[in-house]
Amino acid sequence: MDYISTRAAAKKWGISPGRVAELCRLQRISGCKKPGNQWLIPSNARKPQDARDSSTQAAPQITLRPFLKWAGGKGQLLSQIGKSLPKGLGHTITKYAEPFVGGGAVLFYILSRYSLREIYISDVNAELINTYRVVQQQPEALIQELHRMQADYHPLDPGQRSSYYQQKRDRYNQLKAMPREGISIELGALFIFLNRTCFNGLYRVNRQGGFNVPMGAYRMPAICDEENLRSLSQALRGVQIVCGDYRASQQFIDSNTFVYFDPPYRPLNQTSSFTSYSEQEFGDEAQIQLAQYFSQLDQLGAQVLLSNSDPKNTNAQDNFFEELYQGFCIRRVWANRMINSKQEARGPVSELLIANYKIPRPRR
Ligand SMILES: C[S@@+](CC[C@H](N)C(=O)[O-])C[C@H]1O[C@@H](n2cnc3c(N)ncnc32)[C@H](O)[C@@H]1O
Repeated sequence: MDYISTRAAAKKWGISPGRVAELCRLQRISGCKKPGNQWLIPSNARKPQDARDSSTQAAPQITLRPFLKWAGGKGQLLSQIGKSLPKGLGHTITKYAEPFVGGGAVLFYILSRYSLREIYISDVNAELINTYRVVQQQPEALIQELHRMQADYHPLDPGQRSSYYQQKRDRYNQLKAMPREGISIELGALFIFLNRTCFNGLYRVNRQGGFNVPMGAYRMPAICDEENLRSLSQALRGVQIVCGDYRASQQFIDSNTFVYFDPPYRPLNQTSSFTSYSEQEFGDEAQIQLAQYFSQLDQLGAQVLLSNSDPKNTNAQDNFFEELYQGFCIRRVWANRMINSKQEARGPVSELLIANYKIPRPRR
């Protein structure tokens, strides 16, 4: 295949070379590659539609999938969240912040569709953040490690798998407890391995911070999805990946920023309580502080969207969020979730989307 430079593609399509490079980074030009410092574009590549034009936003060139299963993952709410994004995203709104990134379902949805100048993500889970950085900076070494573990794991019988899993979990906890400088590829690969093979992709730690989820019963879990990891790595180039509290995002956010908050959900009842993504807890006091931060960003002129559980699923009188977010737009959307620990109690529950701009009314 013949390739042309970004400069030549820019001239051909009537846009700037910088814009062509950005479209390459976002994987919106099919077949582009970067063997050295410069992007190369197939000479027959078509000019991508401009995702900043709202009439073309529904036609992504590439679908980025999260590399983790994550509790509270927004996979099934994506289309409703997609319809609730602020007007002007990728156009007048050029920056995106997701301070509780978790599995990043919304982040990858946005990266697949919008061209943004600056992106900031954070989470308090240090091993999760290490894994994002490994995907961003060392995709090939990560893919190699994951391939090795997949090739070891798949042929084993259930008993052998169980001791292999145990051995990897022990190693993960050993590395987790050690001080680290810079990124750890081994820890990142173990994080993905355990996530793909453990029970329901849960992330739960004991009081000492040790990951303690048992093995799941998947026949052939996909441990290494190399194509997706490469695409994610490209899409994450230039993204600021921060380990820490959501409030550290303050230095990044301005009036050109769209902020999406997906904090740990407020539990609907005792049995649905799930707050152990990391060693930190997130109770009502933390929800109140988050609402104050939300208002602060509103004052700053940022566009802010937040999701949370809807207490009215279990107590029609509970106005916790209505009181906290008085004056903001609150919409109910529908998700299929477990509402208590019994499998049969799974069903459609409403969840809240709260924004400081008008969200269109969703249909059930
Ligand atoms: C509901 S999950 C996010 C789910 C994610 N949006 C997805 O689609 O997978 C909440 C995340 O917030 C993180 N978290 C908890 N407390 C935090 C804090 N104070 N600051 C930043 N992140 C926090 C947790 O580690 C967890 O990954």
